[in-house]
Amino acid sequence: MSQVKDKSNVVETEERLQIVRLASDRQKRQSTKANAGRDVAIGLSKTPKSLPPQYFYDDRGSELFEQICSLPEYYPTRTEAEILRQYAGEIAGIIGKCELVELGSGSSTKTRLLLEAFLDGGHSLLYVPVDVSGKILEESARKLGADYPSLQVRGLVGTYEEALTQMQPSPWPSRTVVFLGSSLGNFAPEQCDRFFEQMTTVLEPGDYFLLGIDLQKPKDIMEAAYNDSQGTTAEFNLNMLAHLNWRFGGNFDLSLFYHQAIYNESKSRIEMHLHCKQTHTVYLESLDFKVEFSKGESILTEISRKFNVETMQQYLEARGLKLVRAFTDPQQWFGLLLCQV
Ligand code: AVI
Repeated sequence: MSQVKDKSNVVETEERLQIVRLASDRQKRQSTKANAGRDVAIGLSKTPKSLPPQYFYDDRGSELFEQICSLPEYYPTRTEAEILRQYAGEIAGIIGKCELVELGSGSSTKTRLLLEAFLDGGHSLLYVPVDVSGKILEESARKLGADYPSLQVRGLVGTYEEALTQMQPSPWPSRTVVFLGSSLGNFAPEQCDRFFEQMTTVLEPGDYFLLGIDLQKPKDIMEAAYNDSQGTTAEFNLNMLAHLNWRFGGNFDLSLFYHQAIYNESKSRIEMHLHCKQTHTVYLESLDFKVEFSKGESILTEISRKFNVETMQQYLEARGLKLVRAFTDPQQWFGLLLCQV
C-alpha cells in the first residue's frame, strides 16, 4: 500500500478501501485563517486585475463544472474519454501491475475506463485518487470499491502539493501518476515548472506519467468551448464572485459583470474574463478590502493553455520523462501522453 507519513488522519480503515486526510481540519483552519483572502486582495490590486481560479470551486461551482464537461461545445472531456476508450487497454498492457495515483480525480468517471482496462488485463492495482474535496472523493471511492471488488483504493484528501510532498516510495512494481483533463493548462508556466519539480520526486526510474493535454486547434472551436451557447461557462465564471461574497462578506453585484473568453494567440491560451459594465466600488468585509472598478476593465479569472505534442515532448524529456507513446483522436484535438522516467 502507498504510505503517507502521518497516519492519524485515516478515516476509513477497511482493508481494501482507505481515505486519508492529508492536512487535519485544525491545520486547515489555522492556515486558512492566517492567509484567507490574501490572494484575492493581491489579485484585485494588480493591473490588470486577476483572481485565483481555485475560487471557482464552491459547491455550485463544482456542479457547474460537471455540467460544462457535458456541453456540446466543450470537446476536451468527451475527446479525452474517446481516446481512453480506444487506448486504455494498450496503456494498461504497457504499464502492468502498478500503483495508479490520479491528481484531481473528482468523480473518477473517465478513470474508470483506465481502471477497467488494468483489471480486465489481469493487472492488480492500487488506485490512489487525490482530490481537495473529501465528499466527492469518499463517494467515488465507495462506488469504485463496490463496482470493482478486486480494486484497492486509497484516497488522499488534499492538494496535489500535500499529496506529492507526503508520498513515500511505492512498494508496488511501479507507480503511475495520472493527470487528466488538461488541468495542466490552468497553470501558468512557472506553476507548471514547480508542479513538475514536485511530481517527479515521487517517481522512480521505470515509473510512468500519463498526461492529458488540450491541443492547439482553430480559434473558433476553442472560443466556443468557453463561451457556450447555454451560458453555463458564463454562470461558472460569475459564480466566483458569488463565492467571494459568501466567503469574505463581499458585495459584488453579479449583474455589473459579464463573462467573455478569448483565445490569446501569442500565449496559446484561452483567457476567461469578467468585464465590468459600470464604474463602481466593491467591499469585502472580512478582508477589510475595498476595490474600485472602472467601466470596461476586466478581471482575469482563468487561463487554459493549449499545447502542441512536440513542444510538450521536449518539455517533458527535459524533466527526465521520456515519451513512450502519444495517443490522440482522429481530429488531433486532444493528446494523452504516456511517459516513463
Ligand atoms: C479544469 N480545466 C481543465 C478546465 C479548462 O478547460 O481549462 C476549466 C474550465 N474553465 C472553463 N471551462 C472549463
